[in-house]
Amino acid sequence: MPLKLNSLKSTLLWILIPAVILTSLTSLWVSGLELRDQVNAAFDRSLAGALRSIEVNVRTESGLAMEQPFYMLEFLELTTRSTVFFRVATEDNLSEIGYTELPLPDQPLLTNQPVFYNANYFDDDLRIAAVAIRPSTALPYSPDARIIIQVGERVTSRDNFLEQVMLQTLRKDIILLLVFVLLVSAGVILALRPLKETSEKIRNRSFDDLQPIEPETLPREIRPLIQAINLHMERYARKTQAQQQFLDDASHQLRTPLSVLNMQVDYARSLARTDEMREVLGAIQNRLTSTIQLTNQMVALARVHDAAEKLRSRAPRERVDLCELCEQVAGNLLSTARRKRMDFGLDLPDHPVMVNGIGWLLAEAISNIVANAIKYCPEGACITLAVIIENERICVQVDDNGPGMSPQDIALAGKRFRRGESGKAQQGSGLGLAIVQTIAEINRAELSLEPGPGATGLRVRLAFRVYPESSH
Ligand SMILES: Nc1ncnc2c1ncn2[C@@H]1O[C@H](COP(=O)(O)OP(=O)(O)O)[C@@H](O)[C@H]1O
Ligand SMILES: [Mg+2]
Repeated sequence: MPLKLNSLKSTLLWILIPAVILTSLTSLWVSGLELRDQVNAAFDRSLAGALRSIEVNVRTESGLAMEQPFYMLEFLELTTRSTVFFRVATEDNLSEIGYTELPLPDQPLLTNQPVFYNANYFDDDLRIAAVAIRPSTALPYSPDARIIIQVGERVTSRDNFLEQVMLQTLRKDIILLLVFVLLVSAGVILALRPLKETSEKIRNRSFDDLQPIEPETLPREIRPLIQAINLHMERYARKTQAQQQFLDDASHQLRTPLSVLNMQVDYARSLARTDEMREVLGAIQNRLTSTIQLTNQMVALARVHDAAEKLRSRAPRERVDLCELCEQVAGNLLSTARRKRMDFGLDLPDHPVMVNGIGWLLAEAISNIVANAIKYCPEGACITLAVIIENERICVQVDDNGPGMSPQDIALAGKRFRRGESGKAQQGSGLGLAIVQTIAEINRAELSLEPGPGATGLRVRLAFRVYPESSH
């Protein structure tokens, strides 16, 4: 399986953890070797003690004998926790006490110098200590002979001990290793969390939010990347702003001459002599009116964008009452609706419904939605402007029973200069819903269009996500 090292997390974990496992295995092996030496030395010391105590109990006055040998050996066995093999014999093997033929070391023994060696004795692996002494009183039958004392024990007891200590060390190492893996994983996750949070934040941004990303909260290693991205965004923002500025200026420049032209056409109409001239001038004035409307909406869009820029530099949001805004919009548009003999109704809760936002922008958005309904519905249609409180959302909703919009038109709603099927017969700029869309984004609301109730007409909603405590 090829290592996937394209993530920081797996790189760290795949390199750090095997390295630590290898290191602890090596250290375990080395300490095992050292421990074996130490354990041998300690066990040998107790064998040497046993040698010594046998030595002081050996009697030679009337042949080779040992005082209280079994009492003493029993005591020894208790301390070594295994059978103690011992042998006391003259060097010429003429007299012998204890375990016969306990193996001697390969090298000849020097007097009074104990040696330690491993040997096999009737299928038992023994560790034996041996010493040769010269008796203080010479033995009657072999006066020149040295006495050889041997004490042995099974190696299993020290092997068991070693095994136990090694197991303990292993257990400790494994626990340490687990703690280390946990810490490293937690560390890696913690270290990478700000990166994840920042990605999340950027992903949740509105499409034209080009504010720089705050690099302070991020790990120092990532800051250069963020700074590069910020620089890139700044260039892009500057370019967009220049284009926006050009659009603003152009619309402004157009507005004044258009108004003047409109007045002039008005004047020309009053002077017109024939009906045909009046008709032609009337057509020109209609075109002019819609062009003025277009420029007005372009200026409106520019103002909305301007507000968006200011907002991103953290202008405080106000608490606004949606009911009050709806009443205000309805008041402004009521006369237009009456002229088309429409049934224009308001359906508001009897208490204020507060959201965070910018009042004049929201009024502009609601006004655009209602104006569309009035514009595209036939005479006598029914329009309802309502504020609805749902679980986690507050909606401003405009229902009408007019021609509605096709799914294709709904999909493209909010695109600048895009006009729908119902728009063909009417004059318009195709900017209204684009303005609503931008305002919705600035105010963190969601614009949605769907077929109206009963599948006729249109339902347009501006939904605000709220948290229970700030619903009103
Ligand atoms: N209430 C509505 N009923 C039917 N069609 C609508 C309604 N509101 C908007 N539309 C359609 O959406 C299109 C885009 O609207 P808008 O962006 O306000 O531009 P405009 O009104 O200038 O055409 C309109 O051309 C129209 O086809
Ligand atoms: Mg419109």
